[in-house]
Amino acid sequence: MTSRLDVRGVTTSFGGVHAVSNVSFTLGAGEQLSIIGPNGSGKTTLLDGIAGRVPFDDGMVLLDGVQLSGTPEHHARRGIARTFQRTQIFPSLTLADHLLVALRARHGSPRLWRDLLRVTTRTSGEREAIATCLGHVGLAGKEDVIVGTLGLGTCRMVELARALVTAPSVLLLDECSSGLDGDEASLLVDVVLETSARTGMSVVAIEHDLSVVAAFGGEVLVLVNGVLLGQGHLDEVLANPEVASAYLGARP
Ligand SMILES: Nc1ncnc2c1ncn2[C@@H]1O[C@H](COP(=O)(O)OP(=O)(O)O)[C@@H](O)[C@H]1O
Ligand SMILES: [Mg+2]
Repeated sequence: MTSRLDVRGVTTSFGGVHAVSNVSFTLGAGEQLSIIGPNGSGKTTLLDGIAGRVPFDDGMVLLDGVQLSGTPEHHARRGIARTFQRTQIFPSLTLADHLLVALRARHGSPRLWRDLLRVTTRTSGEREAIATCLGHVGLAGKEDVIVGTLGLGTCRMVELARALVTAPSVLLLDECSSGLDGDEASLLVDVVLETSARTGMSVVAIEHDLSVVAAFGGEVLVLVNGVLLGQGHLDEVLANPEVASAYLGARP
């Protein structure tokens, strides 16, 4: 059976630094995968490559059996959505504006740049998609709230909503729980898992908080110095002495 996401031998170097070395994995529809590893181990670079933001030097990524190539916009139109390690929001725009720009980027609308200047109105279909998505993330009726007035927990939820409004088939999360308290992190994980169960969306989550990794519940990849050091369920990978040594600083 064709995998939803099939990452084959991807490699990226920056100058002399091998950020990602020959990493391969597959992910089925509706499945979750977490990526853990120390800072600087290549997690964000791997995600950026899958999102089309940084080209891989070698290897390939297939979505439903078809190779992904080109720009982040091309990957978005194919159904890849992502959030960022540092939230990338526009403080003066409303929640609805954030979602509208993502919706139109997914559908390749030529009005995108005018949207940023706020001179176009939303169609009824767009209004409905935005309202439905805000309802799914617990922000129903907040269309006109200015994002700059919100706390980090809600901003991370807005970023998640901006990804989900495009109805992605693969969601890439880069440390989505970073800076959140336990309740905010669980809410975020619940929304992601509920969406995945409802739509069949697959999830790749870079995560430093092992309780969040456990909550996602899928397979775990351990990346150290750009190399895949282990793969399996969380308790299995943590029981691997090589992983414990590299990741937790424990002596084997
Ligand atoms: N744009 C870049 N230019 C040069 N080096 C980079 C760039 N992005 C990442 N790196 C390097 O690649 C390695 C992996 O970084 P990164 O993917 O951000 O790791 P992680 O997300 O696991 O913390 C690090 O050594 C980092 O310094
Ligand atoms: Mg990172």
